[in-house]
Amino acid sequence: MGSRQHIRDIQSGPPLPYSDDIRAYKKEYAEALDAQDPLRSFRDEFIIPSKKDLKRTTLAADEYSDASDPRSIYFCGNSLGVQPRSTQKYIEQYLRTWATKGVTGHFVPHEDQLLPPFVDVDTSGSKLMAPIVGASQSEVAVMGTLTANLHLLMASFYRPTKEKYKIILEGKAFPSDHYAVESQLRHHNFDPKDGMVLIEPENLDKPTLSTEQIIKVIDENASSTALVLLSAIQFYTGQYFDIERITAHAHSKDILIGWDCAHAAGNVDLRLHDWNVDFAAWCNYKYLNSGPGGIAGLFVHERHGRVDEKQSDSEETFRPRLSGWWGSDLKTRFNMDNKFLPQIGAAGFQLSNPSVLDINAVIASLEIFNRATMKEIRQKSLELTGYLEHLLLKYPLDASAQDKPFTLITPSNPAERGAQLSIRLQPGLLDHVLHSLEENGVVIDERKPDVVRVAPAPLYNTYTEVWEFCQIFLQACKDAVKMR
Ligand SMILES: Cc1ncc(COP(=O)(O)O)c(C=O)c1O
Repeated sequence: MGSRQHIRDIQSGPPLPYSDDIRAYKKEYAEALDAQDPLRSFRDEFIIPSKKDLKRTTLAADEYSDASDPRSIYFCGNSLGVQPRSTQKYIEQYLRTWATKGVTGHFVPHEDQLLPPFVDVDTSGSKLMAPIVGASQSEVAVMGTLTANLHLLMASFYRPTKEKYKIILEGKAFPSDHYAVESQLRHHNFDPKDGMVLIEPENLDKPTLSTEQIIKVIDENASSTALVLLSAIQFYTGQYFDIERITAHAHSKDILIGWDCAHAAGNVDLRLHDWNVDFAAWCNYKYLNSGPGGIAGLFVHERHGRVDEKQSDSEETFRPRLSGWWGSDLKTRFNMDNKFLPQIGAAGFQLSNPSVLDINAVIASLEIFNRATMKEIRQKSLELTGYLEHLLLKYPLDASAQDKPFTLITPSNPAERGAQLSIRLQPGLLDHVLHSLEENGVVIDERKPDVVRVAPAPLYNTYTEVWEFCQIFLQACKDAVKMR
Protein backbone atom coordinates (compact mmCIF):
# COMPACT_ATOMS: atom_id res chain seq x y z
CA MET A 1 0.00 0.00 0.00
CA GLY A 2 1.38 3.46 -0.91
CA SER A 3 2.02 5.57 2.13
CA ARG A 4 -0.29 8.43 1.01
CA GLN A 5 -3.18 6.01 0.65
CA HIS A 6 -2.26 4.48 3.95
CA ILE A 7 -2.29 7.84 5.77
CA ARG A 8 -5.70 8.56 4.22
CA ASP A 9 -6.95 5.19 5.50
CA ILE A 10 -5.65 5.97 8.96
CA GLN A 11 -7.05 9.47 8.94
CA SER A 12 -10.50 8.14 8.18
CA GLY A 13 -10.15 5.71 11.09
CA PRO A 14 -10.27 6.32 14.83
CA PRO A 15 -8.29 9.20 16.35
CA LEU A 16 -4.50 8.87 16.38
CA PRO A 17 -2.56 7.39 17.97
CA TYR A 18 -4.71 5.47 20.44
CA SER A 19 -6.54 3.38 17.91
CA ASP A 20 -7.63 -0.23 18.55
CA ASP A 21 -7.99 -0.73 14.81
CA ILE A 22 -5.88 -3.75 13.84
CA ARG A 23 -4.06 -1.62 11.26
CA ALA A 24 -2.73 0.49 14.14
CA TYR A 25 -0.56 -2.41 15.31
CA LYS A 26 1.30 -2.56 12.01
CA LYS A 27 4.66 -0.96 11.35
CA GLU A 28 3.20 1.02 8.43
CA TYR A 29 0.95 2.81 10.86
CA ALA A 30 3.95 3.96 12.92
CA GLU A 31 5.72 5.02 9.73
CA ALA A 32 2.68 7.02 8.69
CA LEU A 33 2.68 8.76 12.07
CA ASP A 34 6.32 9.68 11.52
CA ALA A 35 5.57 10.97 8.04
CA GLN A 36 2.94 13.32 9.49
CA ASP A 37 5.06 14.45 12.45
CA PRO A 38 5.71 18.20 12.19
CA LEU A 39 8.88 17.83 14.33
CA ARG A 40 10.35 14.92 12.34
CA SER A 41 13.28 16.88 10.89
CA PHE A 42 14.72 17.53 14.36
CA ARG A 43 16.00 13.95 14.56
CA ASP A 44 18.74 14.88 12.07
CA GLU A 45 20.10 17.42 14.55
CA PHE A 46 21.22 14.66 16.93
CA ILE A 47 23.77 11.86 16.84
CA ILE A 48 22.02 8.63 17.76
CA PRO A 49 24.59 5.91 18.59
CA SER A 50 24.56 3.09 16.05
CA LYS A 51 24.12 -0.49 17.26
CA LYS A 52 27.68 -1.15 16.13
CA ASP A 53 28.99 1.85 18.06
CA LEU A 54 27.42 0.56 21.25
CA LYS A 55 29.50 -2.60 20.95
CA ARG A 56 32.79 -0.82 20.22
CA THR A 57 35.65 -1.39 22.59
CA THR A 58 37.80 1.51 21.35
CA LEU A 59 37.10 5.10 20.41
CA ALA A 60 39.52 5.15 17.47
CA ALA A 61 37.95 6.25 14.17
CA ASP A 62 36.59 3.20 12.39
CA GLU A 63 36.93 3.07 8.61
CA TYR A 64 34.12 0.53 8.45
CA SER A 65 31.67 2.67 10.35
CA ASP A 66 29.02 4.13 8.16
CA ALA A 67 26.22 6.65 8.61
CA SER A 68 23.86 4.01 7.24
CA ASP A 69 24.67 1.57 10.09
CA PRO A 70 21.41 0.84 11.89
CA ARG A 71 20.84 3.17 14.80
CA SER A 72 20.17 1.97 18.30
CA ILE A 73 16.73 2.60 19.79
CA TYR A 74 17.79 5.23 22.30
CA PHE A 75 15.01 5.69 24.87
CA CYS A 76 17.22 6.93 27.67
CA GLY A 77 16.98 10.73 27.39
CA ASN A 78 15.62 10.71 30.96
CA SER A 79 19.09 9.69 32.07
CA LEU A 80 21.52 11.10 29.49
CA GLY A 81 20.35 12.81 26.31
CA VAL A 82 22.21 12.17 23.05
CA GLN A 83 24.70 14.59 21.53
CA PRO A 84 23.46 17.36 19.24
CA ARG A 85 25.42 17.48 15.98
CA SER A 86 26.15 21.15 16.59
CA THR A 87 27.87 20.55 19.96
CA GLN A 88 31.19 19.87 18.25
CA LYS A 89 30.97 23.15 16.29
CA TYR A 90 30.26 25.15 19.47
CA ILE A 91 33.06 23.47 21.42
CA GLU A 92 35.51 23.91 18.55
CA GLN A 93 34.70 27.63 18.37
CA TYR A 94 35.22 27.93 22.09
CA LEU A 95 38.60 26.15 21.84
CA ARG A 96 39.61 28.35 18.92
CA THR A 97 38.67 31.54 20.74
CA TRP A 98 40.62 30.49 23.79
CA ALA A 99 43.63 29.43 21.64
CA THR A 100 43.72 32.57 19.51
CA LYS A 101 42.76 35.19 22.06
CA GLY A 102 43.73 33.85 25.48
CA VAL A 103 42.39 36.10 28.22
CA THR A 104 41.19 38.70 25.72
CA GLY A 105 38.63 36.11 24.62
CA HIS A 106 36.64 37.31 27.61
CA PHE A 107 35.91 40.62 25.90
CA VAL A 108 36.75 40.52 22.16
CA PRO A 109 33.82 39.75 19.87
CA HIS A 110 34.24 37.94 16.52
CA GLU A 111 32.30 38.58 13.36
CA ASP A 112 31.50 34.89 12.96
CA GLN A 113 30.96 34.05 16.64
CA LEU A 114 28.22 31.66 17.71
CA LEU A 115 28.32 33.07 21.22
CA PRO A 116 29.41 36.40 22.65
CA PRO A 117 32.80 36.77 24.41
CA PHE A 118 33.34 34.56 27.47
CA VAL A 119 32.28 37.21 29.94
CA ASP A 120 28.73 37.30 28.55
CA VAL A 121 27.99 33.64 27.74
CA ASP A 122 25.89 33.12 30.87
CA THR A 123 23.44 35.74 29.58
CA SER A 124 23.09 33.86 26.29
CA GLY A 125 22.40 30.71 28.29
CA SER A 126 19.64 32.24 30.42
CA LYS A 127 17.99 33.80 27.36
CA LEU A 128 17.63 30.41 25.64
CA MET A 129 16.77 28.57 28.86
CA ALA A 130 13.93 30.84 29.99
CA PRO A 131 11.30 29.67 27.47
CA ILE A 132 12.13 26.02 28.20
CA VAL A 133 10.97 26.35 31.82
CA GLY A 134 8.32 29.06 31.40
CA ALA A 135 10.21 31.93 33.00
CA SER A 136 11.48 35.35 32.12
CA GLN A 137 15.17 35.57 31.35
CA SER A 138 15.97 37.33 34.62
CA GLU A 139 14.39 34.47 36.60
CA VAL A 140 16.82 31.89 35.20
CA ALA A 141 20.55 31.26 35.59
CA VAL A 142 22.66 28.63 33.86
CA MET A 143 25.15 27.69 36.54
CA GLY A 144 26.61 25.07 38.81
CA THR A 145 25.30 21.56 39.17
CA LEU A 146 21.93 20.34 40.37
CA THR A 147 22.70 19.18 43.90
CA ALA A 148 25.02 22.13 44.56
CA ASN A 149 22.32 24.50 43.29
CA LEU A 150 19.71 22.89 45.54
CA HIS A 151 22.02 23.60 48.48
CA LEU A 152 22.54 27.20 47.36
CA LEU A 153 18.82 27.72 46.98
CA MET A 154 18.07 26.15 50.34
CA ALA A 155 20.70 28.39 51.91
CA SER A 156 18.49 31.25 50.80
CA PHE A 157 14.99 29.78 51.01
CA TYR A 158 15.30 27.49 54.03
CA ARG A 159 15.45 29.88 56.94
CA PRO A 160 14.17 27.83 59.86
CA THR A 161 13.00 29.09 63.22
CA LYS A 162 12.51 27.05 66.40
CA GLU A 163 8.81 26.72 65.55
CA LYS A 164 8.92 26.41 61.76
CA TYR A 165 11.87 24.26 60.70
CA LYS A 166 10.62 21.08 58.97
CA ILE A 167 11.17 20.23 55.31
CA ILE A 168 8.60 18.11 53.49
CA LEU A 169 9.86 15.87 50.66
CA GLU A 170 9.04 12.57 49.03
CA GLY A 171 10.07 9.43 50.90
CA LYS A 172 11.35 8.12 47.56
CA ALA A 173 13.01 11.35 46.47
CA PHE A 174 16.17 10.94 44.42
CA PRO A 175 18.89 10.14 47.01
CA SER A 176 20.84 13.32 46.30
CA ASP A 177 17.80 15.45 47.21
CA HIS A 178 17.30 13.37 50.35
CA TYR A 179 20.94 13.87 51.38
CA ALA A 180 20.80 17.58 50.57
CA VAL A 181 17.73 18.09 52.78
CA GLU A 182 19.11 15.90 55.55
CA SER A 183 22.37 17.82 55.62
CA GLN A 184 20.60 21.20 55.50
CA LEU A 185 18.68 20.23 58.63
CA ARG A 186 21.87 19.11 60.37
CA HIS A 187 23.62 22.27 59.22
CA HIS A 188 20.98 24.24 61.12
CA ASN A 189 21.30 21.94 64.16
CA PHE A 190 18.01 20.10 63.66
CA ASP A 191 17.60 16.36 63.89
CA PRO A 192 16.60 14.99 60.46
CA LYS A 193 14.51 12.27 62.15
CA ASP A 194 12.26 15.02 63.45
CA GLY A 195 12.77 17.63 60.75
CA MET A 196 12.32 15.58 57.56
CA VAL A 197 8.69 14.87 56.73
CA LEU A 198 8.70 12.08 54.16
CA ILE A 199 5.64 11.52 51.97
CA GLU A 200 5.47 7.79 51.37
CA PRO A 201 3.38 6.06 48.69
CA GLU A 202 0.27 4.43 50.17
CA ASN A 203 0.52 1.46 47.85
CA LEU A 204 3.92 0.03 46.98
CA ASP A 205 2.50 -1.76 43.93
CA LYS A 206 1.59 1.66 42.56
CA PRO A 207 4.13 3.92 44.22
CA THR A 208 2.68 7.24 43.04
CA LEU A 209 1.46 10.08 45.29
CA SER A 210 -1.90 11.76 44.82
CA THR A 211 -2.14 15.55 45.03
CA GLU A 212 -4.61 15.07 47.89
CA GLN A 213 -2.07 13.02 49.84
CA ILE A 214 0.63 15.68 49.37
CA ILE A 215 -1.80 18.40 50.42
CA LYS A 216 -2.81 16.40 53.49
CA VAL A 217 0.83 16.05 54.59
CA ILE A 218 1.34 19.79 54.12
CA ASP A 219 -1.78 20.49 56.20
CA GLU A 220 -0.75 18.11 58.97
CA ASN A 221 2.64 19.77 59.30
CA ALA A 222 1.76 23.32 58.33
CA SER A 223 2.59 25.01 61.62
CA SER A 224 6.07 23.46 61.88
CA THR A 225 7.14 23.41 58.22
CA ALA A 226 9.50 25.95 56.66
CA LEU A 227 9.94 24.42 53.21
CA VAL A 228 8.55 21.86 50.75
CA LEU A 229 10.98 20.38 48.21
CA LEU A 230 9.48 18.06 45.60
CA SER A 231 10.46 16.72 42.21
CA ALA A 232 8.40 18.03 39.31
CA ILE A 233 8.60 14.61 37.68
CA GLN A 234 9.45 11.68 39.90
CA PHE A 235 12.59 9.90 38.65
CA TYR A 236 11.34 6.38 39.43
CA THR A 237 7.65 6.41 38.59
CA GLY A 238 7.70 9.17 35.97
CA GLN A 239 4.81 10.89 37.78
CA TYR A 240 4.37 14.58 36.92
CA PHE A 241 3.02 16.40 39.96
CA ASP A 242 0.45 19.17 39.90
CA ILE A 243 2.98 21.93 40.47
CA GLU A 244 0.50 24.79 40.28
CA ARG A 245 -1.96 23.38 42.80
CA ILE A 246 0.63 22.11 45.28
CA THR A 247 2.56 25.40 45.10
CA ALA A 248 -0.61 27.42 45.74
CA HIS A 249 -1.49 25.17 48.67
CA ALA A 250 1.96 25.48 50.28
CA HIS A 251 1.74 29.26 49.91
CA SER A 252 -1.71 29.29 51.51
CA LYS A 253 -0.02 27.79 54.61
CA ASP A 254 2.81 30.31 54.51
CA ILE A 255 5.35 27.71 53.36
CA LEU A 256 7.93 28.23 50.61
CA ILE A 257 8.22 25.55 47.95
CA GLY A 258 10.98 24.50 45.57
CA TRP A 259 10.90 22.00 42.71
CA ASP A 260 13.61 19.69 41.42
CA CYS A 261 12.96 19.79 37.67
CA ALA A 262 15.72 17.34 36.64
CA HIS A 263 13.20 15.10 34.86
CA ALA A 264 10.93 17.91 33.72
CA ALA A 265 13.16 20.51 32.02
CA GLY A 266 12.99 19.95 28.27
CA ASN A 267 10.40 17.22 28.82
CA VAL A 268 7.15 19.00 29.73
CA ASP A 269 6.00 22.57 29.16
CA LEU A 270 6.73 24.01 32.58
CA ARG A 271 5.36 27.43 33.54
CA LEU A 272 7.39 28.13 36.62
CA HIS A 273 6.67 31.87 36.66
CA ASP A 274 2.90 31.60 36.16
CA TRP A 275 2.67 28.80 38.70
CA ASN A 276 4.28 31.08 41.24
CA VAL A 277 7.00 28.59 42.12
CA ASP A 278 9.46 30.06 44.63
CA PHE A 279 12.54 28.33 43.25
CA ALA A 280 13.54 25.40 41.08
CA ALA A 281 16.72 23.65 39.97
CA TRP A 282 17.51 21.11 37.28
CA CYS A 283 20.33 19.42 35.41
CA ASN A 284 20.69 19.82 31.66
CA TYR A 285 22.18 16.46 30.74
CA LYS A 286 18.89 14.55 30.54
CA TYR A 287 16.24 15.88 28.17
CA LEU A 288 18.41 18.92 27.43
CA ASN A 289 21.36 17.00 25.97
CA SER A 290 24.24 19.03 27.41
CA GLY A 291 26.53 16.05 28.10
CA PRO A 292 27.25 14.12 31.29
CA GLY A 293 27.50 16.31 34.37
CA GLY A 294 27.11 19.48 32.26
CA ILE A 295 26.28 22.87 33.71
CA ALA A 296 22.83 23.06 35.37
CA GLY A 297 20.04 25.62 35.68
CA LEU A 298 18.04 27.33 38.38
CA PHE A 299 14.94 29.48 38.68
CA VAL A 300 14.17 32.13 41.26
CA HIS A 301 10.76 33.78 41.01
CA GLU A 302 11.03 37.49 40.26
CA ARG A 303 9.54 38.42 43.63
CA HIS A 304 12.53 36.79 45.35
CA GLY A 305 15.14 38.24 43.01
CA ARG A 306 14.36 41.90 43.70
CA VAL A 307 17.12 44.25 44.74
CA ASP A 308 15.67 47.34 46.39
CA GLU A 309 17.33 50.64 46.99
CA LYS A 310 19.33 50.89 50.19
CA GLN A 311 17.96 53.21 52.87
CA SER A 312 20.87 52.72 55.26
CA ASP A 313 24.34 51.14 55.15
CA SER A 314 23.54 48.43 57.69
CA GLU A 315 20.60 46.77 55.92
CA GLU A 316 20.63 44.34 53.00
CA THR A 317 17.97 45.09 50.43
CA PHE A 318 17.86 41.72 48.76
CA ARG A 319 17.08 38.15 49.70
CA PRO A 320 19.93 36.69 51.83
CA ARG A 321 22.03 34.13 50.01
CA LEU A 322 25.49 32.58 49.82
CA SER A 323 27.27 34.96 47.48
CA GLY A 324 30.16 35.07 45.02
CA TRP A 325 31.53 37.70 42.68
CA TRP A 326 29.71 36.46 39.57
CA GLY A 327 26.40 37.24 41.21
CA SER A 328 27.29 40.86 41.74
CA ASP A 329 25.96 43.78 39.81
CA LEU A 330 27.52 43.96 36.34
CA LYS A 331 28.42 47.62 36.74
CA THR A 332 30.46 46.97 39.89
CA ARG A 333 31.61 43.37 39.40
CA PHE A 334 35.16 44.32 38.47
CA ASN A 335 35.50 47.12 41.03
CA MET A 336 36.94 44.71 43.59
CA ASP A 337 35.60 46.92 46.38
CA ASN A 338 34.11 44.08 48.46
CA LYS A 339 30.67 45.67 48.51
CA PHE A 340 28.33 42.94 47.31
CA LEU A 341 25.27 44.15 45.51
CA PRO A 342 23.61 41.34 43.53
CA GLN A 343 22.34 41.45 40.00
CA ILE A 344 18.55 41.46 39.88
CA GLY A 345 17.00 38.03 39.54
CA ALA A 346 18.48 34.53 39.35
CA ALA A 347 21.80 35.84 37.99
CA GLY A 348 22.37 37.36 41.43
CA PHE A 349 22.61 33.81 42.83
CA GLN A 350 25.67 32.98 40.69
CA LEU A 351 28.94 32.40 42.53
CA SER A 352 31.76 31.71 40.09
CA ASN A 353 32.47 32.64 36.51
CA PRO A 354 30.81 29.80 34.63
CA SER A 355 32.56 27.07 32.66
CA VAL A 356 32.40 28.48 29.12
CA LEU A 357 33.07 24.99 27.77
CA ASP A 358 29.97 23.73 29.56
CA ILE A 359 27.79 26.64 28.54
CA ASN A 360 28.68 26.05 24.90
CA ALA A 361 27.50 22.46 25.22
CA VAL A 362 24.15 23.39 26.75
CA ILE A 363 23.56 26.23 24.29
CA ALA A 364 24.14 23.92 21.32
CA SER A 365 21.11 21.97 22.49
CA LEU A 366 19.00 24.92 23.69
CA GLU A 367 19.37 26.56 20.31
CA ILE A 368 17.70 23.50 18.75
CA PHE A 369 14.91 23.46 21.35
CA ASN A 370 14.27 27.15 20.72
CA ARG A 371 13.50 26.43 17.08
CA ALA A 372 10.33 24.78 18.33
CA THR A 373 8.20 25.61 21.38
CA MET A 374 7.86 23.49 24.49
CA LYS A 375 4.14 23.35 23.73
CA GLU A 376 4.84 21.65 20.38
CA ILE A 377 7.46 19.38 21.89
CA ARG A 378 5.10 18.36 24.70
CA GLN A 379 2.31 17.72 22.20
CA LYS A 380 4.45 15.24 20.29
CA SER A 381 5.67 13.72 23.53
CA LEU A 382 2.09 13.10 24.67
CA GLU A 383 1.37 11.29 21.44
CA LEU A 384 4.63 9.34 21.32
CA THR A 385 4.38 8.11 24.91
CA GLY A 386 0.64 7.54 24.50
CA TYR A 387 1.40 5.33 21.51
CA LEU A 388 4.05 3.45 23.50
CA GLU A 389 1.59 2.85 26.34
CA HIS A 390 -1.10 1.78 23.91
CA LEU A 391 1.13 -0.79 22.21
CA LEU A 392 2.49 -2.11 25.51
CA LEU A 393 -0.95 -2.63 26.97
CA LYS A 394 -3.01 -3.58 23.96
CA TYR A 395 -0.69 -5.26 21.50
CA PRO A 396 -2.47 -8.44 20.36
CA LEU A 397 -0.49 -11.25 21.96
CA ASP A 398 -1.60 -14.76 22.69
CA ALA A 399 -1.34 -14.08 26.44
CA SER A 400 -4.47 -12.73 28.12
CA ALA A 401 -4.38 -9.38 29.90
CA GLN A 402 -3.95 -11.02 33.32
CA ASP A 403 -0.90 -12.85 32.07
CA LYS A 404 0.91 -9.69 31.10
CA PRO A 405 4.41 -10.13 32.48
CA PHE A 406 4.57 -6.47 33.50
CA THR A 407 2.55 -3.54 34.78
CA LEU A 408 3.04 0.18 34.25
CA ILE A 409 3.64 2.14 37.42
CA THR A 410 3.58 5.52 35.68
CA PRO A 411 0.16 7.24 35.90
CA SER A 412 -2.13 6.38 32.97
CA ASN A 413 -3.38 9.97 32.83
CA PRO A 414 -1.13 11.66 30.22
CA ALA A 415 -1.33 14.96 32.14
CA GLU A 416 0.34 13.24 35.10
CA ARG A 417 3.45 12.05 33.29
CA GLY A 418 6.15 13.21 30.89
CA ALA A 419 7.94 11.15 28.25
CA GLN A 420 8.89 8.29 30.58
CA LEU A 421 6.99 5.10 31.26
CA SER A 422 8.24 2.95 34.14
CA ILE A 423 7.54 -0.71 33.56
CA ARG A 424 7.54 -3.13 36.48
CA LEU A 425 8.34 -6.70 35.41
CA GLN A 426 7.19 -9.78 37.25
CA PRO A 427 9.91 -11.16 39.56
CA GLY A 428 12.69 -13.04 37.82
CA LEU A 429 12.26 -11.53 34.35
CA LEU A 430 14.48 -8.46 34.49
CA ASP A 431 17.86 -9.98 33.66
CA HIS A 432 16.66 -11.82 30.59
CA VAL A 433 14.69 -8.83 29.32
CA LEU A 434 17.65 -6.48 29.79
CA HIS A 435 19.95 -8.89 28.00
CA SER A 436 17.56 -9.19 25.10
CA LEU A 437 17.11 -5.42 24.79
CA GLU A 438 20.85 -4.91 24.81
CA GLU A 439 21.37 -7.60 22.17
CA ASN A 440 18.87 -5.82 19.96
CA GLY A 441 20.49 -2.40 20.34
CA VAL A 442 17.87 -0.90 22.67
CA VAL A 443 19.11 1.61 25.26
CA ILE A 444 16.90 2.07 28.33
CA ASP A 445 17.76 1.95 32.00
CA GLU A 446 16.74 -0.23 34.89
CA ARG A 447 16.02 0.33 38.55
CA LYS A 448 16.63 -2.95 40.34
CA PRO A 449 14.98 -5.23 41.31
CA ASP A 450 12.30 -5.11 38.62
CA VAL A 451 11.69 -1.75 36.91
CA VAL A 452 12.78 -0.54 33.49
CA ARG A 453 12.38 3.10 32.55
CA VAL A 454 11.62 3.84 28.93
CA ALA A 455 11.60 7.42 27.67
CA PRO A 456 11.13 8.28 23.99
CA ALA A 457 12.38 11.86 23.54
CA PRO A 458 10.14 13.80 21.16
CA LEU A 459 12.89 15.68 19.32
CA TYR A 460 14.87 12.65 18.24
CA ASN A 461 12.76 9.53 18.69
CA THR A 462 10.19 8.23 16.25
CA TYR A 463 6.90 6.34 16.27
CA THR A 464 8.61 3.61 14.26
CA GLU A 465 11.18 3.19 17.02
CA VAL A 466 8.35 2.90 19.55
CA TRP A 467 6.81 0.18 17.40
CA GLU A 468 10.13 -1.65 17.03
CA PHE A 469 10.87 -1.33 20.74
CA CYS A 470 7.53 -2.94 21.57
CA GLN A 471 8.21 -5.90 19.27
CA ILE A 472 11.58 -6.49 20.91
CA PHE A 473 10.36 -5.87 24.45
CA LEU A 474 7.21 -7.98 24.22
CA GLN A 475 9.11 -10.86 22.64
CA ALA A 476 11.79 -10.59 25.35
CA CYS A 477 9.07 -10.77 28.02
CA LYS A 478 7.49 -13.84 26.40
CA ASP A 479 10.85 -15.61 26.22
CA ALA A 480 11.70 -14.63 29.79
CA VAL A 481 8.41 -16.08 31.06
CA LYS A 482 9.11 -19.38 29.24
CA MET A 483 12.62 -19.59 30.66
CA ARG A 484 11.61 -18.79 34.23
C1 LIG B 1 15.73 13.99 40.46
C2 LIG B 1 17.22 14.14 40.57
N1 LIG B 1 17.73 14.94 41.51
C3 LIG B 1 19.06 15.08 41.65
C4 LIG B 1 19.95 14.43 40.82
C5 LIG B 1 21.41 14.61 41.04
O1 LIG B 1 21.97 15.35 40.00
P1 LIG B 1 23.48 15.91 40.02
O2 LIG B 1 24.39 14.73 40.12
O3 LIG B 1 23.61 16.58 38.68
O4 LIG B 1 23.61 16.84 41.17
C6 LIG B 1 19.45 13.60 39.82
C7 LIG B 1 20.37 12.88 38.91
O5 LIG B 1 20.01 12.12 38.06
C8 LIG B 1 18.05 13.45 39.69
O6 LIG B 1 17.52 12.64 38.77
